[in-house]
Amino acid sequence: MSIGILTSGGDCPGLNAVIRGAVLKGTKIYKQEFVGFRDGWRGVVQGDVMPLTRKDIQGISKQGGTILGTSRTNPFEGDGGVEKIRENMDRLGIDSMIAIGGEGTLAAAKRLTDAGIKIVGVPKTVDNDLSATDYTFGFDTAVQIATDAMDRLRTTGDSHGRCMVAEVMGRHVGWIALHSGMAAGAHVILIPEQKINIDQICEWVQQVKDRGRAPLVVVAEGFSLDSMEDAHSERGLDAFGRPRLGGIGEMLAPIIEERTGLETRATTLGHIQRGGTPTSFDRVLATRYGMAAVDSTIHERWGRMVSLSGTSITHVAFEDALGKLNTVPQDRWDEASILFG
Ligand code: F6P
Repeated sequence: MSIGILTSGGDCPGLNAVIRGAVLKGTKIYKQEFVGFRDGWRGVVQGDVMPLTRKDIQGISKQGGTILGTSRTNPFEGDGGVEKIRENMDRLGIDSMIAIGGEGTLAAAKRLTDAGIKIVGVPKTVDNDLSATDYTFGFDTAVQIATDAMDRLRTTGDSHGRCMVAEVMGRHVGWIALHSGMAAGAHVILIPEQKINIDQICEWVQQVKDRGRAPLVVVAEGFSLDSMEDAHSERGLDAFGRPRLGGIGEMLAPIIEERTGLETRATTLGHIQRGGTPTSFDRVLATRYGMAAVDSTIHERWGRMVSLSGTSITHVAFEDALGKLNTVPQDRWDEASILFG
């Protein structure tokens, strides 16, 4: 019997390091065999697998993306469901699964575990929005990419005396915006947790302009002005019916320009934040998660995900990991906002 690994939901740097950590420890220490499900739950539902031997995972921890592919497939929709998955696992000789994913993936994993399928979870989100772990891998890389981009935006902004607006990821929480914005010395940071009015934003920009500096405004995709009901979305819905976000930076830039008289440009970093080489922090965290996930399968900790607490790897039940967002607390916002304007 083998252990099946899947990566599901949006990709993020470090997924391959999890796979490598799990397969290395699993083959070396526990003499287990592994297969990879292609494209997340799609591979599970369709029984589409690929070999995962020690040779297949050589040198992959520094590679971005996922060698298994990913998708936002819902395993309960279409031809899916518990019976179909059980049938596929029996046919393929797969005893248990390691599911690497975010909130949606873990929610599906919980439903399947409740129905008797043996699954352990590994948390994944660039947004760092899962509350049951101190950090998720991919977040550190995204912050580094965003910080590098903002350093660049600042030199061109300075040269032209322009206001630069940088839009970063962050659907429900503003961790990427907060960290990259602080690191880059942003003059305004806008996050989903804090609704702000446009007068306040323009006042901060004006203060920077009055000092003869070029303002940098960082905005998370999920931010909304106090006059808006929901986050800005103009690209329809994704497979889970969630609005595709993006465009708030482009929306704010002309308003800032009109109100402050300062030429303003917006840049949306988008999926660049999820691509490429993971930082060493993310590689180490992801490798440790992969190794701990294999321990969990050996110890039959079904329905639990590995998590980081301080510097230790621990385990949390799916139900305790779901439904609670790791939002930016008020004191972190208050601390950052001292630097605005
Ligand atoms: O959930 C992570 C995330 O990167 C969000 O910040 C963003 O809204 C979403 O995924 C984008 O998803 P997709 O890759 O499907 O465009």
